[in-house]
Amino acid sequence: MKIKKQLQLLLKNKIDNSLLNKIPSGYSRIGDIAIFHQIERDLYNYRKLIGDAIIDLDPQINVVIEQVGTRTSFRIPKIKHLAGEERYTTIHNEYRTSFEIDVSKITFSPGNKGERNHLINLVDNNEVICDMFACIGNLSLPIVVNNPSVQVYGIEWNEVAFSLLEKNIRLNKIEDRYFPIYGDNREKTPSNIASRILMGYFEIDEKHFNCALKAIKTKGWIHYHSTTTRDNLNEPEEFIYQLVEDTNYNLVIKEIRKIKKISPRLYHLCTDIYVEK
Ligand SMILES: C[S@@+](CC[C@H](N)C(=O)[O-])C[C@H]1O[C@@H](n2cnc3c(N)ncnc32)[C@H](O)[C@@H]1O
Repeated sequence: MKIKKQLQLLLKNKIDNSLLNKIPSGYSRIGDIAIFHQIERDLYNYRKLIGDAIIDLDPQINVVIEQVGTRTSFRIPKIKHLAGEERYTTIHNEYRTSFEIDVSKITFSPGNKGERNHLINLVDNNEVICDMFACIGNLSLPIVVNNPSVQVYGIEWNEVAFSLLEKNIRLNKIEDRYFPIYGDNREKTPSNIASRILMGYFEIDEKHFNCALKAIKTKGWIHYHSTTTRDNLNEPEEFIYQLVEDTNYNLVIKEIRKIKKISPRLYHLCTDIYVEK
């Protein structure tokens, strides 16, 4: 039975009937923490009740929080504790990879799970990858864990995310193949080293992109993430066309992939660009 239905049955006599329909249809699960995204205002007084009900219904959940937004350019989550243990750190396991994550400090998108799997299968043996927006290793840790011949340089400028990235490298025992670099990727991205560049961030500018080009050794791929509206799903940003035109390298846009729906009109895309120097 769907979680919304289960919640409605459990809370039938505790919540005003007219509000039962407004109960959220689901939550994200990160490790043993359930995260609701912006519960309807009318349910404000019932949020603890909903949180307690989730702990009763889902044996994998020990903490329930609500994420009401993000703040600053580091996208620090704004959260409220609803039920269960008062802690925000958990270990999330996915594709044989363990991620230690503090959900009060870092956002981690379960909606990118398909992309993580796609990358594991896409990457060839012996590749060297540059993850320019590494965060806690969201996209690049599973690649290294699942392919013992791959090396990754992961760059991150948020101190909290970087320290979790370092922890996760140790947790997954890949210190010999995952090289974390602290700082601004516009200064710290290594040159002429990689066969694949991950650009998992929505505010990419020309400077970031030029660093990605420099990082490619002779030929390889850039995976450029962006958002777009429903009507422009097959169009990469104008910005990319301009960059492709302006560079001296041979660049071909091979594919534009839909990664997830962010809201009814907004989509997360990845543009796969092949580069030859
Ligand atoms: C949205 S997270 C990306 C997570 C992951 N790549 C994914 O797609 O799931 C973006 C990360 O890039 C980092 N970041 C943004 N600009 C940066 C820069 N110029 N240099 C290094 N890190 C940067 C942020 O701190 C954040 O941790």
